[in-house]
Amino acid sequence: MRILVVGGGGREHAIIKALKKNPNITEIFAAPGNGGIAQDATCVPIGALEIDKLVEFAYTNKIDYAIVAPDDPLVLGCVDAMEAHGIPCFGPCANAAIIEGSKVFAKDLMKKYGIPTAKYETFTCAADALAYLENAPIPTVVKADGLALGKGVIIAQTREEARRAVRDMMEDGIFGKSGSRIVIEEFLTGPEVSVLAFTDGKTVKPMVSSMDHKRAGDHDTGLNTGGMGTVAPNPYYTEFIAQQCMEEIFLPTVAAMNTEGRTFKGCLYFGLMLTPDGPKVIEYNCRFGDPETQVVLPLLESDLLTVMQATTNGTLAETDVVFSKKHACCVIWTSSGYPKAYQKGYEITMTSEAAKHTYVAGAKLEGNKLVTSGGRVTGTTAVADCLEDAIREAYRLSDGVCFENAYRRSDIGQRALQAKQ
Ligand code: AMP
Ligand code: GLY
Repeated sequence: MRILVVGGGGREHAIIKALKKNPNITEIFAAPGNGGIAQDATCVPIGALEIDKLVEFAYTNKIDYAIVAPDDPLVLGCVDAMEAHGIPCFGPCANAAIIEGSKVFAKDLMKKYGIPTAKYETFTCAADALAYLENAPIPTVVKADGLALGKGVIIAQTREEARRAVRDMMEDGIFGKSGSRIVIEEFLTGPEVSVLAFTDGKTVKPMVSSMDHKRAGDHDTGLNTGGMGTVAPNPYYTEFIAQQCMEEIFLPTVAAMNTEGRTFKGCLYFGLMLTPDGPKVIEYNCRFGDPETQVVLPLLESDLLTVMQATTNGTLAETDVVFSKKHACCVIWTSSGYPKAYQKGYEITMTSEAAKHTYVAGAKLEGNKLVTSGGRVTGTTAVADCLEDAIREAYRLSDGVCFENAYRRSDIGQRALQAKQ
């Protein structure tokens, strides 16, 4: 089998490392991949958004199965284009990827089908949004409708901050077209849980739950980032809550998408908040999360390719999706300064032990030297029988990854540990 993975971050590296356990896979290509992925796959210099070129590559290189990992090619119809050329592909079609591509769509879907989420209003005109804010409860949450590289959500602690967010998005267009429509929603509180689920549009098989650490600084301070580390499973996500989420959120969402004529196949990501009124959806993503994937896939005992193909073929009900009962922790090294400006081009060295457990995100090859090229640079994952050991081991292994100007949080997993106690 010849596989193409579209994307080039830590998530894609984790997918590729998991696929490599399958002996039937003879070659894995990554487009564009990165300098670290190049150790495990053949990187091809085609960007994740160059859909015509990706399809041409897959077609001429006799790709048996393509996996589209990032949000933007999914929203742009990469899966539709692959399938139109007869290439089976993992991921939702564009008409289903809209569940992440438009927050207004997602919110309206939840309202229409009674799926629990924060109360909200949508606006296409700044004056209306500003008028609404005069009496809105504070804190409030302002969200750009479209994709905004994970930066389109502002938690406004004051009315003035909320007004500024509306003006930035709707008048100054800081997110381009993504901010021409916005959602203003109720501020919710409670522990957050990420649940990634495989679905073929009929059956939903959730993966092990996880906890992201979105803020840049220790103790959840500082700016929001793409994610500084993860642990799995998430101790807040009890069997009881899992059952409730399946009945009230996961199955109703998949059924709602079918009713709308937008059958979702692939990985549906539920960003949940466990509020005092029960679990509510904070966001849907139409793909694997990053860095959730870096703790979830190391715990997957079933063959990843088989499960992915089952989502495409509609055979998920008959396919085992088994996770280990162990614990995983992933610690991200970033370029100091991220998510704001940072220096890049520093050489990365890794002990061979660390390399086995490390997924590379923002790095490229210069000659045969691996150098930093992005904000999030590497993620190192350890799996152990208990959470304490997974955290300790992830930090120990992460010590084996070195580059100048490196920064990591020192408290990944601590909140989860406290929750267990
Ligand atoms: P998102 O980009 O939608 O994942 O939002 C980023 C982060 O903002 C989430 O992980 C939450 O921590 C926070 N957030 C989003 N919506 C709300 C809300 N309605 N209430 C409280 N926090 C929120
Ligand atoms: N870690 C959050 C996301 O992938 O969107």
